[in-house]
Amino acid sequence: MDLKSLIRDIPDFPKPGIVFRDITTLLRNPEGLRYTIDFLAQKCIELEISVDCIVGMESRGFIFGAPLAYKLGSGFIPVRKKGKLPAAVHRIDYQLEYGTDCLEVHQDALHPGSRVLIVDDLIATGGTASATATLVQKIGCELVGFGFIIELRDLQGRKYLPDVPIISLVEY
Ligand code: PRP
Ligand code: HPA
Repeated sequence: MDLKSLIRDIPDFPKPGIVFRDITTLLRNPEGLRYTIDFLAQKCIELEISVDCIVGMESRGFIFGAPLAYKLGSGFIPVRKKGKLPAAVHRIDYQLEYGTDCLEVHQDALHPGSRVLIVDDLIATGGTASATATLVQKIGCELVGFGFIIELRDLQGRKYLPDVPIISLVEY
């Protein structure tokens, strides 16, 4: 299936000069959605990545991470933006182009030694994925890989990620 044909390009969003890769057109397509999750799961199996839990980042990482966890028979752990999680959290601050941002995960959600796959819809600069990896590794989890639907190659985000398998289904 041609996944790229199901992803809509929106010029000049959120600001002039950016072409936004919109996954909502993929999500609303029943065959496209199923194929995407099955394809991601298949790649994990081919690479012999065994997973205890999938960590997905707010918000679009939730959309793909949770069904992949279901498919692989693992748990799903949400990593959220500041102040959204109700129980005690581990936090990581990370650098954006202008300023900083913060991601949080529940302290009792991840355990040292757990085999974690990080899933998001898209990798651009790699800032979000790399901060999440640091958070997971600081807890003592074993990071076993990353799964993305879309990779924006020009931004070279993957070079900021640890040396583990990186799956991406569609490249721009
Ligand atoms: C987008 C995307 C990734 C991140 C990628 O999320 O879903 O999480 O940016 O960019 P990076 O590789 O440069 O870090 P966004 O922060 O826009 O949040 P959203 O999913 O809630 O829209
Ligand atoms: N599409 C969706 N999300 C994004 C993009 C994009 O092109 N760039 C950074 N986050």
